[in-house]
Amino acid sequence: MTAKLDTQTLRNLDQAHHLHPFTDFKDYAAHGGKIISRAEHIYLYDSDGNKIQDAMSGLWCCNLGYDQDSIKQAVFDQLQELPYYNNFFRCSNQPAVELASKLCELTPERFQHVFFTNSGSEANDTQIKLVHRYFDLLGKPNKKHIISRNNAYHGSTIAASSLGGMKSMHEQTMGLNYVHHIEQPHWYECGGDMSEAEFGLHAAQALADKIDELGEENIAAFIAEPVQGAGGVIIPPDSYWPAVKKILEERDILFIADEVICGFGRTGNWFGFETYDIEPDLVTFAKAVTNGFMPLGGCLVADKVSNVLLNGAGDFAHGLTYSGHPASCAAGLATMAVYEDTGIIESSARDLAPHFNAQLQSLVDHPIVGQVRSKGLFAAVELTDDKAARTRIAPDSAAAVYCRDVAIEDGLMVRQTGDAMIMAPPFVTERHEIDNLVAKLTVALDKTARQFGIS
Ligand SMILES: Cc1ncc(COP(=O)(O)O)c(C=O)c1O
Repeated sequence: MTAKLDTQTLRNLDQAHHLHPFTDFKDYAAHGGKIISRAEHIYLYDSDGNKIQDAMSGLWCCNLGYDQDSIKQAVFDQLQELPYYNNFFRCSNQPAVELASKLCELTPERFQHVFFTNSGSEANDTQIKLVHRYFDLLGKPNKKHIISRNNAYHGSTIAASSLGGMKSMHEQTMGLNYVHHIEQPHWYECGGDMSEAEFGLHAAQALADKIDELGEENIAAFIAEPVQGAGGVIIPPDSYWPAVKKILEERDILFIADEVICGFGRTGNWFGFETYDIEPDLVTFAKAVTNGFMPLGGCLVADKVSNVLLNGAGDFAHGLTYSGHPASCAAGLATMAVYEDTGIIESSARDLAPHFNAQLQSLVDHPIVGQVRSKGLFAAVELTDDKAARTRIAPDSAAAVYCRDVAIEDGLMVRQTGDAMIMAPPFVTERHEIDNLVAKLTVALDKTARQFGIS
């Protein structure tokens, strides 16, 4: 370990040399940020010694919190044994073999193959190549178009940001011309006067309409997160997924479920597709597969697709230096062991999630709260100055940004998307820590209401 630097030196060097993701470079160079120096259980400690409760599981990835010695030890041991070798040129390694098998065991029978990447973005890029290859091999080379949804987040490589439906990302990167975006199932934002049930059907119909517009013979896949995470924890109306499922059953297009956030327990089951009873042909995973401790992502491929891919002649022209990295896969295996041995996905869904939801519901009557929505350990609290009209309090999400900043200042790490306060607490959070989360959020909401003159 390098010697510890003092906070001021770190901040100076950080501002001078370090370009941060999704950050205003100019603003950061002028004002800097927080140096996080260590973490324990569900708490982060900054270099000034402040203790912050993490209500976001890092970046939706540390579902098991920050302790988990078995995962750390597995990585250490693997680095002693085989710190690196690639999976190109007819080579493999034990952790990659075992993790691929384990993931197939944990998912429905039809999933028997895994392609590893380092991240969710790369996994979604890989999905595009897999579905294109699939239809090429079937002699349907026109089937290249992909349908996604407004405000989806599928990552930040060029292909993944193009798949995603984030306007700000599209403004800075020229997207792929074969990706098309349809309505998101976000009733609070887009539902207008429709009931939630009506709007769910309306948003699903957008998929059928887009397929008709582009021609089914030109479409390779529909990609969607079971619950849109980064877009604002958008929990679709109950009518949405059954209607989409029916459309997908009737059409010759593949369905890619992006489980990068929903996967490994976030919505109360191992995968979001189980929570919503939907049947993807391909699954994207990352983040919580290693509890966020090592970079790892990948694609699970169902037999329908892999049977064709495995019969194609010639190489699949795609791969990453670190695909199936032994240390990352060792972390993945150790993480799966914790999920399985402790039963925490099931127990947190049974005990913690209902408590979390009940506590959050107490915020519904707060003067600036327009909606509270949650699924498993995944939640959003929408801020508004008019509960009936569902309007935003101030331009540029200023109220939610203010609320987030005061919450962090008070020792609670939450996130903001639009005017929604977002939470995804670790599954190891205890009930009294959920109470603390909600108490701190309430204080932040009170301060925000005062700041924006709402009573
Ligand atoms: C649903 C979803 N897909 C893909 C990604 C991209 O993953 P990564 O940041 O590992 O590239 C994310 C990241 O937040 C995500 O939420």
